[in-house]
Amino acid sequence: MIGTVYEAALGGQRCWVRGADYQTRELPVERWLGECDEDPCDAALVARCEGPTIDLGCGPGRVVAWLTRRGIPALGIDQSAVAVHLAGRRGARALRGDVFDELPREGWWQTVVLADGTIGMGADPLRLLNRCRALLRDGGHCVVEFDPGATGSETTMQRLESETQVGPWFSWATVGLDALEEFGQRVSLRLKDVEVFGERGIAELAAI
Ligand SMILES: C[S@@+](CC[C@H](N)C(=O)[O-])C[C@H]1O[C@@H](n2cnc3c(N)ncnc32)[C@H](O)[C@@H]1O
Repeated sequence: MIGTVYEAALGGQRCWVRGADYQTRELPVERWLGECDEDPCDAALVARCEGPTIDLGCGPGRVVAWLTRRGIPALGIDQSAVAVHLAGRRGARALRGDVFDELPREGWWQTVVLADGTIGMGADPLRLLNRCRALLRDGGHCVVEFDPGATGSETTMQRLESETQVGPWFSWATVGLDALEEFGQRVSLRLKDVEVFGERGIAELAAI
C-alpha cells in the first residue's frame, strides 16, 4: 500500500485498487480523511476502544484523532510518511514505522485497532494477530474490521492506480469472520462480539 499512488490519493487524486482478476474498486479515501462519527461502522469501532489504544496502519489518523479529542491516549503507526504527516495535522499522534517492527510499549496497550482492511497488512493475518496479542496487556482487546461477505482467508495480488500512475503489485489478505475466529484462537485472542454494518464488520477479540 505504501508508495506514491497511495500518497497521491491521500492528497486528493482519484485512485483505485486493481485486483489480480483486473477488476477495480475505488479506494475509500474520503472515509479515511473524514470523521469517525460520519459513518456508523467507524462510530461503533471507536466506541469499542478503551484505555490506551494503538491503531496499526492508522492511515491519516481519523481513529487516533477521534480518541485523542476524547481524552483517550492513542497512537497510530503507519509506514506512509504522508499518512503520518496528515495524522499529525489533525492532532493524532502517529509514528512512521512497520507494524511488524518493534513498537512503543509492547504488552502495555489496552486496545489494538485494525480498521478498514488493515487485517490484510503483510498478507499474513495469523502473524498480524499474533503481533496484536504481543502489543496487548492481559485483559486487553483487539478491535478488528473484517469483510462480512468473505469466508476463510485469502491472499491476492493488488496494485494501486490513478489516471497518471500505476503502482507495483503487492499482496494483501482478506479475512472472513470464521478465519478471524480461528486465527484468534491460535494466538490467545478469543472472539467476544461482532457487529455488522452492510459491507463492513467489526469483531472484538479479547486477550486471554
Ligand atoms: C487500507 S489503509 C487503512 C487506513 C486507516 N486504517 C483508516 O481506516 O483510515 C491501510 C494503511 O496501512 C498502512 N500499512 C500497510 N502495511 C503496513 C505495515 N506493514 N506497517 C505499517 N503500516 C502499514 C498503509 O500505509 C495504509 O495507510
